[in-house]
Amino acid sequence: MLDLSALPPGFIWGSATAAYQIEGAVAEDGRKPSIWDTFSHTPGAVDNGDTGDVACDHYHRFAEDVALMRRLNLDAYRFSVAWPRVLPDGVGAVNQAGLDFYDRLVDELLAAGVRPFATLYHWDLPQALQDAGGWPDRATAEAFADYAAVVAGRLGDRVADWNTVNEPLCVSWIGHLEGRMAPGERDLTRAVHTSHHVLLGHGLVNQAIRASARLAPSVGIVLNLSPIEPGSDRPEDVAAAVRADGHTNRWWLDPVFGRGYPADMIEVYGVEPPIREGDLEVIATPTEFLGINYYFRQIVVDDPAGGAPFARQIPVPGAVETAMPWEVHAKGLEDILVSVAETYRPASILVTENGSAWYDTVEPSGEIQDKERTDYLEQHLDAVRAAVLRGAPVDGYFAWSLLDNFEWAYGYDKRFGLVRVDYDTQERTIKASGHRYADLITTHKRSRQSVI
Ligand code: IFM
Repeated sequence: MLDLSALPPGFIWGSATAAYQIEGAVAEDGRKPSIWDTFSHTPGAVDNGDTGDVACDHYHRFAEDVALMRRLNLDAYRFSVAWPRVLPDGVGAVNQAGLDFYDRLVDELLAAGVRPFATLYHWDLPQALQDAGGWPDRATAEAFADYAAVVAGRLGDRVADWNTVNEPLCVSWIGHLEGRMAPGERDLTRAVHTSHHVLLGHGLVNQAIRASARLAPSVGIVLNLSPIEPGSDRPEDVAAAVRADGHTNRWWLDPVFGRGYPADMIEVYGVEPPIREGDLEVIATPTEFLGINYYFRQIVVDDPAGGAPFARQIPVPGAVETAMPWEVHAKGLEDILVSVAETYRPASILVTENGSAWYDTVEPSGEIQDKERTDYLEQHLDAVRAAVLRGAPVDGYFAWSLLDNFEWAYGYDKRFGLVRVDYDTQERTIKASGHRYADLITTHKRSRQSVI
């Protein structure tokens, strides 16, 4: 029996999405291509040749989707703003029609009593900026701040909660080192330069929001983190685990919390981040919260022949795996929340994403009895509860994802939604996991009322 009454009374119950994964309408109202439009239309880049051209058609169906959020009893909704809708060329002329969409969405959310959490960069860099040099170029960080000021100037009278960048690890390492995501590069120097400019962009955007928004803002970066374990006691594997921790966790956390880049990792990469005077202070500008996305732990072994960080993740024998296939390991969420809380002392942590993809079956009745996703949800909420009891200041949880959606290079086969989307008809159906989440939220709200 899951008892979440230990979660704080004001705990924020939410769900999350991202623009390119759900909106569709890629050529409407002045939007121009992003790097993900280009990448997804590159033959062989995405499974089944899927693209975000239509996705969940959320651009036209957002009111229906907000109504679903009400049915799920959500307090909050984390969405991302598409930079190429607002500034189709990345810089310069503002596209008011693009901003109007987010105006409508925010108004609809507020009318439904759902608190908007806006993410400013969830990977859809305007293609024009990529053509001008992309994230390896410092000008992109500066353009990011200008774009953020435009968005905060328009929405900042109604939106107080801002996420700067989603998962800089994916932008830098997966997009520029491993080439598995847009823009599909494989270059360590450009990846390290990207990582610095994305973090610099976070700091500049943090400052720009404070200068432009009318409501007192609450700002945070969103990092995808994993606890790391060595695959054996061999000194080589133990050292590999230190490097994997540097690559996945410390490279991002250390500079954001004012410690600069970890020296051991600069040595591992053999590349200096292109830091200019004052950059580290900008990156470490205080924030109100840290967003943590958690999906899996990593068990690693030494891999001298592999690329940086020369550590290879190994499978866990007998593990339960999702469709990704990622190991289900809820204790890893508890562990990462506690270790980040103890090491970096953030004022507040939000679990900004957590969820699982499964191959769902639609019953003849139309129901989706997604027991695996429901179990995963319960186990991970219990892990959050355990972390809170161990002193981690976790103030909210956003289930990934509200809807089945475009899972990047995996296309539409990997379904993370609490709500099923039939991509032929765009019909939405709340899955059993969604109903369970709604019940858990109600139960927690009742328990906090009885405390008050
Ligand atoms: O779908 C993604 C999301 O865009 C970023 N975090 C991880 C999710 C699942 O892979």
